[in-house]
Amino acid sequence: MSKKDNVQNSSKREFLGVTGKAGLSTFVASAAGINLGLVDLVHAQNKSVQPFRFAMISDSHLFSHKNHKFDTQLSDAIEQVNNLPVKPDFVLYGGDIAQDGTMDQLEKGQKILSKINTKMVIIPGEHDWYVDMGTGWNGLYGKNNPESGQRKGRKEYWSFDHKGVHFVGVNNILVDDFWTVQKMTGVERQTHMSMLEGPWGGLWGVKAEQLEWLKKDLAKQPTDKPIVIFSHAPLWDYYPRWGFGTSDGEQVRGLLSKFENVFSFHGHVHQTIYNKIGNMSSVGAMSTSWPWPYPAVDLAFPQSRQNRADPGNEEDGMGSLYADFGTTGVRVQHQPFADTLTPWMKNGFVA
Ligand SMILES: [Fe+2]
Ligand SMILES: [Fe+2]
Repeated sequence: MSKKDNVQNSSKREFLGVTGKAGLSTFVASAAGINLGLVDLVHAQNKSVQPFRFAMISDSHLFSHKNHKFDTQLSDAIEQVNNLPVKPDFVLYGGDIAQDGTMDQLEKGQKILSKINTKMVIIPGEHDWYVDMGTGWNGLYGKNNPESGQRKGRKEYWSFDHKGVHFVGVNNILVDDFWTVQKMTGVERQTHMSMLEGPWGGLWGVKAEQLEWLKKDLAKQPTDKPIVIFSHAPLWDYYPRWGFGTSDGEQVRGLLSKFENVFSFHGHVHQTIYNKIGNMSSVGAMSTSWPWPYPAVDLAFPQSRQNRADPGNEEDGMGSLYADFGTTGVRVQHQPFADTLTPWMKNGFVA
């Protein structure tokens, strides 16, 4: 079956609703088990939302080599999104378009992403940033992002309203200067920041300037308006040792705490993951490059993870997702490249 057929057939599948703990979330798992979806019916009742769909692609880690397999895998994700029977109003690209942050990689990413047949908004990942501290990224990608009060010429964080929902994108991979004193080149700085357990940068965050901007941006929004926040790394402490978190995530969540419905979508972890902290439901997207293993962490919703990726199947554990907003909730559907079925995915589950 081609990926295109796979996407179209998945839209016809019957979905099984499984109710979670009272007052928490309601999950939906695909009857055919292609992957986990979830909804949050309790927290997203809002009559002012006009139904719409957005899609998310993330973490392509393009290398400089010509015709690298990751180029093809990014194109496969774009094909999934472009062939959705219901067209998304926009696509979020969740960061790490490049592997080493070099201009040739960033330019290659822009060229491949231009094949998306709807609008795109984008945030940076740590692999896009540290060669030149975002100058190349902003020049190529920032110009397409919404204009919303950032520093002149920098559009790595932004917000916009769409059909009754307020969307915010932040750059949460910023660390304090560890490179000047060590006289590092930009490439050396990037190499350190690209390490999974980078010892020098420490855990990144959005930092003071964005916190101030976010505070002002959110002050204009009514508390019953659904908020969707996009970030590269999770806004909660999933596994900080691998950079799976945000140093000032608690402050970001604090600014969001007055809202009734908050949804966070992030990349970076290269795996499906779901969590709920306070009023914020958080969804992690698969990458298009490779799946990270799951860290040894107990979660409140352990079965929201995909099965461990099959190393014998080179398409397993990667893909894209789409999210449908309606007046009664949000349904997220992960779209893996490989149609790998697991029993709990087939049968649904109670969280
Ligand atoms: Fe990544
Ligand atoms: Fe990343």
